[in-house]
Amino acid sequence: MNFKEEYKESIENPTEFWKKQAEAIQWYTPPKTILSQDEKGHYRWFSGGTLNTCYLALDYHIEQGHGEQPALIYDSPVTNTQKKYTFNQFRDEVSRLSGVLRALGVEKSDRVVIYMPMIPEAVMGMLACARLGAVHSVVFGGFAPHELAVRIDDAQPKVLLTATCGIELSNIIPYKPLVDKALELSEFPPEKVLVFERPEAECSMVDGRDHTWASLMADAKAVDPVPVEATDPLYILYTSGTTGKPKGVVRDNGGHAVALKYSMTHLYNAEPGSVYWAGSDIGWVVGHSYIVYAPLINRCTTVLFEGKPVKTPDAGTFWRVMAEHKVNIMFTAPTAFRAIKKEDPDGMLKKKYDLSALKMLFLAGERLDPPTYEWLKGLLDCPVIDHWWQTETGWPIACNPAGIEIFPIKSGSPTFPVPGYKVEILDESGQEVSTGETGNIVVKLPLPPGCLPTLWRDDDRFHESYLSIYPGYYVTADGGYIDKDGYLFVMGRTDDVINVAGHRLSTGEMEEIIGGHPAVAECAVTGLTDELKGEVPVGFVVLKDGVNISNEQLEKEIVALIRSEIGAVASFKRSVVVVRLPKTRSGKILRKTIRQLAKEKNVPTPPTIDDPKILDEIRDVMETEGLTEINSD
Ligand code: COA
Ligand code: AMP
Repeated sequence: MNFKEEYKESIENPTEFWKKQAEAIQWYTPPKTILSQDEKGHYRWFSGGTLNTCYLALDYHIEQGHGEQPALIYDSPVTNTQKKYTFNQFRDEVSRLSGVLRALGVEKSDRVVIYMPMIPEAVMGMLACARLGAVHSVVFGGFAPHELAVRIDDAQPKVLLTATCGIELSNIIPYKPLVDKALELSEFPPEKVLVFERPEAECSMVDGRDHTWASLMADAKAVDPVPVEATDPLYILYTSGTTGKPKGVVRDNGGHAVALKYSMTHLYNAEPGSVYWAGSDIGWVVGHSYIVYAPLINRCTTVLFEGKPVKTPDAGTFWRVMAEHKVNIMFTAPTAFRAIKKEDPDGMLKKKYDLSALKMLFLAGERLDPPTYEWLKGLLDCPVIDHWWQTETGWPIACNPAGIEIFPIKSGSPTFPVPGYKVEILDESGQEVSTGETGNIVVKLPLPPGCLPTLWRDDDRFHESYLSIYPGYYVTADGGYIDKDGYLFVMGRTDDVINVAGHRLSTGEMEEIIGGHPAVAECAVTGLTDELKGEVPVGFVVLKDGVNISNEQLEKEIVALIRSEIGAVASFKRSVVVVRLPKTRSGKILRKTIRQLAKEKNVPTPPTIDDPKILDEIRDVMETEGLTEINSD
């Protein structure tokens, strides 16, 4: 089938289409119903089917005679370590870790929070949960204790997995004190904490609660995969919404496995046995789907890289990893290559390496900006493919479908909606816009397998956030257009979520935190353009009357506040004092207008503002503070 036929079939006959795709994975019991709606009207895929995601990722390949193929290559320039695990070795570690978790009281449906750096044990932790039918919730290591506590309280885990430290460039970040603090803050702390001891840091342990990995693994009993329902949750992954409370995106087992398998063959063109490297972090959805589950389900060797694109030790490290491990398919965020380009604009470091194994480079997490695309295209002999997706979907919504056929690339576009996603562009009143016109990007229901069936224990919020705005559609909260050739262009978020170095962050949450500072009357946080990170957050603060604090001191305190409440990952470095904020008559702050002021000279005064001088005042502050062109340093 060519792409057009494949796409048409997926939209016109989703049940038949996905029934066929579901045959590509091994079920204990094949699904009875391909697509159904639950009592709340939410769509569910593959009801009645039973399977185990860890079995699909590991045991199945061993049964098929591939036990000695490398499953995972750990490459850690920050510790000068490389380690390879075959499927046999990895399955043995994982099944014993499942035994440890079971001995700690974890059973099917129990939650386990994982707060770990990019080490093999973190991947083992995820798969060990999947093996038991337990639900993992990985929290990115760059989040501060408060954020970890919020996620713990929502998921209410039985056990938390952590390590003594993470390593950021040459800095050792002790994780255990952060975990201890989070557990102090949380209302529903787990009963047990399992700590992987890294040689780079020690930590204090709480008697009865904390256990070391090595001590429990020493006499752990291997556990067989536990069959689960296709609709049972595999994991919860929290992502930023517009408020301080993150959204717990739920991923099921059956739809997820089918969608990821389909994506590996039809989108990424990844053959079993090939080497696949997603340069991301297991704390993000890219890490869940394309470091851990998809490559392993597809019997690829996955690369787990603990380092940065630059400074570990230099801007040639990505090329080295690709060459040394003969990576066939690579996937990362454009920001990583912007960092490399900044340090090595002519790509001189690449010349040292043989990249002949590389067949394809995929980029996502933010729009692939045309200059970065052109730079990569000039350097590499393989296709450079932008693709668009979200934590909510777990796999691409739009992509150049390399496993079916490759279309000419239009710079700035992730090409076409992929099979399963009927993408439309609607205006504010819910009418479809004409070709080339910008509007809200939506997906007609049902979403394909793999996408979120709901939010963790919050069906109402799921409905409100995604389904109620345009009945019959899932709202992506991205804006964009479809051109005359059917190419989709994704131009940015329509809500108050910003994208910092490929990381999704809530400006609303930052505002709530800044609003708690005793000197602050009100504030607006907006993302301003940054050459390296795409966007960085900047706070515009109105002081309470009579407050006496210097701007420098206030900025220092606000930066520290965001760092301690959200974490370093927010990259929050600037806040400025303004006299007033532009608002609608109903009091809604016009963040987009503030953002526009940094980019454009003649920003029209929104009709809801009575006094146009507000915009001049803010622009003056931006100019004085050097915020019209922000650089990361
Ligand atoms: N644990 C603890 N701290 C962490 C962390 C972790 N896992 N990850 C990041 N941080 C810290 C960093 O040390 C940094 O702290 P600092 O302000 O004290 O320097 C801060 O969080 C911001 O990190 P980051 O956004 O990674 O910025 P950076 O300047 O260190 O690196 C890039 C910039 C572009 C090189 C980096 O963001 C990158 O490699 N991105 C790749 C793409 C990616 O992973 N995208 C995710 C989705 S695909
Ligand atoms: P996350 O949920 O963290 O993966 O972030 C998802 C958001 O990142 C999307 O809603 C988009 O705003 C943005 N995004 C991801 N990939 C792309 C892309 N290829 N082009 C444009 N925006 C993207």
